[in-house]
Amino acid sequence: MHERIRVLVVDDDPEVRSLLGRVLTKSSWSTTEASSGADAMATLGRQEFDVVLLDVKLPDASGLDILRWARESDVDTEFVILTGNADVETAVALKEVMTRRDGMPHIVGDSPEIVDVVSMIARVAASDSPVLINGESGTGKELVARSVHLKSRRASRPFVSVNCGALPDTLLETELFGHKRGAFSGAVNSRVGLFEAADGGTLFLDEIGEMSPAMQVRLLRVLDSGEVRRVGEERAFNVDARIVAATNKDLNREATEGRFRWDLFYRVATIVIPVPALRRRRDDIPLLVQHFSAPGARGGQPLRFSADAMERLQRYEWPGNIRELRNLIERLQILHDGDEVQANALPAELTVVKRTAAEPAQTPLVSLQEMERQYVERVLQSTAWNKAQAARVLEVDIKTLNKKIRDFNIVRPA
Ligand SMILES: Nc1ncnc2c1ncn2[C@@H]1O[C@H](COP(=O)(O)OP(=O)(O)OP(=O)(O)O)[C@@H](O)[C@H]1O
Ligand SMILES: [Mg+2]
Repeated sequence: MHERIRVLVVDDDPEVRSLLGRVLTKSSWSTTEASSGADAMATLGRQEFDVVLLDVKLPDASGLDILRWARESDVDTEFVILTGNADVETAVALKEVMTRRDGMPHIVGDSPEIVDVVSMIARVAASDSPVLINGESGTGKELVARSVHLKSRRASRPFVSVNCGALPDTLLETELFGHKRGAFSGAVNSRVGLFEAADGGTLFLDEIGEMSPAMQVRLLRVLDSGEVRRVGEERAFNVDARIVAATNKDLNREATEGRFRWDLFYRVATIVIPVPALRRRRDDIPLLVQHFSAPGARGGQPLRFSADAMERLQRYEWPGNIRELRNLIERLQILHDGDEVQANALPAELTVVKRTAAEPAQTPLVSLQEMERQYVERVLQSTAWNKAQAARVLEVDIKTLNKKIRDFNIVRPA
């Protein structure tokens, strides 16, 4: 789930504190209050915060004193100093901090492939339609999902993420839809589901291809009706959550082979943003390397790579895509001492030259006609000869499909 932003509100005026507390809790930040400088420092010593809202004038210290103390004690937090009109000022400052913290994620790269992705994000962000983000593991699907949210009119509302593949059905169901108190043994309190939590915002259904058939039905019902019913509850609520889903599978094929419902497929996959594998956009590698090797929070030097090492990085297949690249750079940043990283300092898998491109084709070359025949046959097989489905995959009408079956003399296996 989306990490909550932790805020410390430091103000001696209880009214200001409770006002800010209310505003912040509404936007689902978790807030802690401190009433004096001493209190603030003690709390900061104990606990980590993402943002501190600091009154400039406290009974026992000035806001600036605390700021100075925090810098000296290596407290890694953003400070917003409030000087007068707490509510107005805060609203403005918070919005800024929020976009920064929530991180308008930076999509690095200038290859035509990634530029396409970025422009698709801008286009779909303007609408409320469901979007499917499709790409191999580690290509940046979640990053793309967040960008869609943050560029949309829903940006100031929650982005709620759920991994549909990680939970067994019963848990996923209560996660998504919530439950009523007493709905099952152990349900001591009623609970809001993620659909409701994402109301007005975006619900990110990660790994949607892993959803069980039963959950697919449940989800479809919600998407069709726009209503959510908590487990054990009769009443239904209207929810307005924009659906962004992601999968590393070929969802069309999942549907063709009967593992994913077509009706749900059409619901979530009308707009698809394909995120290309890193090896399809090798030109982005130097920029990404630079991005990930910029000096981190721990200080330290940016890493530099010899031309030879960079060439290896660009030639490697990156099965784990950008996540793999990022992990490698982070590892090097910790382990590498010395000047430039040389090729021999890279892990073995990067330095072994693979013979893939030169391999002779496995199948004999055939005519376009024969190719078409084989393909139609393959689609029929994988749809178990469901002609309606096969025709949809092939994007022809059934009449055309029947003609092809006749012309090519394709016979249904017994
Ligand atoms: N274009 C990019 N620029 C900068 N960072 C990126 C880019 N693409 C991905 N990343 C970073 O790479 C890591 C992996 O990205 P992300 O988690 O979005 O991938 P994913 O496709 O959701 O992976 P998985 O399928 O494993 O869940 C993240 O740390 C992300 O910030
Ligand atoms: Mg992911």
